[in-house]
Amino acid sequence: MILLLIVFVQLLCTVQCVTNSTPGTPRNPEYHLAHHLINPMEEEKNIDWSNWKRHGYLTEKEFNTIKKEYEELFNFYDIETEKMSLLEIGSGHGRLTLIYEKLFKKILAIDSEKSLIDLFNKKIKEENLIKIKTKTVKFEKFKSKKKFDLIIFSQSFLWMDNKEECLSKVKDLLNFKSDLLNFKSDLKSDIYIENKKSNGYLLVVEPYFMTKFHKKFKLNHKRMIDSLNTLITSKHFELIHFHTKGKNCSRTYYLLQ
Ligand SMILES: C[S@@+](CC[C@H](N)C(=O)[O-])C[C@H]1O[C@@H](n2cnc3c(N)ncnc32)[C@H](O)[C@@H]1O
Repeated sequence: MILLLIVFVQLLCTVQCVTNSTPGTPRNPEYHLAHHLINPMEEEKNIDWSNWKRHGYLTEKEFNTIKKEYEELFNFYDIETEKMSLLEIGSGHGRLTLIYEKLFKKILAIDSEKSLIDLFNKKIKEENLIKIKTKTVKFEKFKSKKKFDLIIFSQSFLWMDNKEECLSKVKDLLNFKSDLLNFKSDLKSDIYIENKKSNGYLLVVEPYFMTKFHKKFKLNHKRMIDSLNTLITSKHFELIHFHTKGKNCSRTYYLLQ
C-alpha cells in the first residue's frame, strides 16, 4: 500500500514537472536559477517603495544646495518657474517637492505608493503648504483635464516600464503656447506668423550614482541606459540640456522641450 502511494506521488510530480516547463527547456533545477538570472528585471517589477520613507527629509544644507542647482538651471534658460504650474511624478513623501514649493506657483505631486503620499499629506497639513496638491496614482494610469507648464520626474523616470510611451503621455499633459513672430514686410502692415512652439518643459532627474561599478546597481544601470537612450532618441522631445551634480555625480539633470 505504502509502495503504491510512493509510486502515485512520484507519478504526480513527473506530470507536474512536464506541464510546468516550457517546451524545449531543460528540466533541471539549475534551469530555474539560470532563468532567474537571465530575467532579473521580472523580479524587480514590484518594488516596495514604502521603505523609501527611511530617507527622511533633506537637511537644511542639502535643501539649499539642491535648491540652488534647480535655480541655476531654470535661470540659465530663463524659465520663470514662479509663474508656472508643475506636475511632479514620483514625489515620494515630498523630499524634493519641498524645494519645488519654493520655486513654482502651484504643484501637483503624484506617486504610486500610498504610504508615502499619506506621510507627505501629513507634512503638507502641518506646514500649511497650500500650493501643493497630491494624488496616489501610477503615472501610467494618471488622467488630468488640466495641463502643466513643466513636468518633473524626480528620480522616477528610471522606474517607468515603457519610457517612450511615458514621454508621449507627458507631451499631452504639457501646455503649449503660440508665439507670434513679427516679420517686417514690404507692405504697409506687418505680417504676423504664428510659430506654434511648445512652452512646456520636461525635466528628468536621475540618480547617477547607480552607474557606479557595483553589482547591486547592475539592473538599475540597465534602467539608466534605457532612460538615456529614450531621452536622446525620443520622437516627442528634444534634449536641450544635460549636467550632473553632487558628490559622485549623484544627480543627473536632463531638460527637454
Ligand atoms: C527613488 S524614489 C524618489 C522619491 C522622491 N522623488 C525623492 O527624491 O525622494 C522613486 C519614487 O517613484 C515612485 N514611482 C515608481 N514608479 C512609479 C510610477 N509608475 N508612477 C508613479 N510613481 C512611481 C515610487 O513610489 C517612489 O516614491
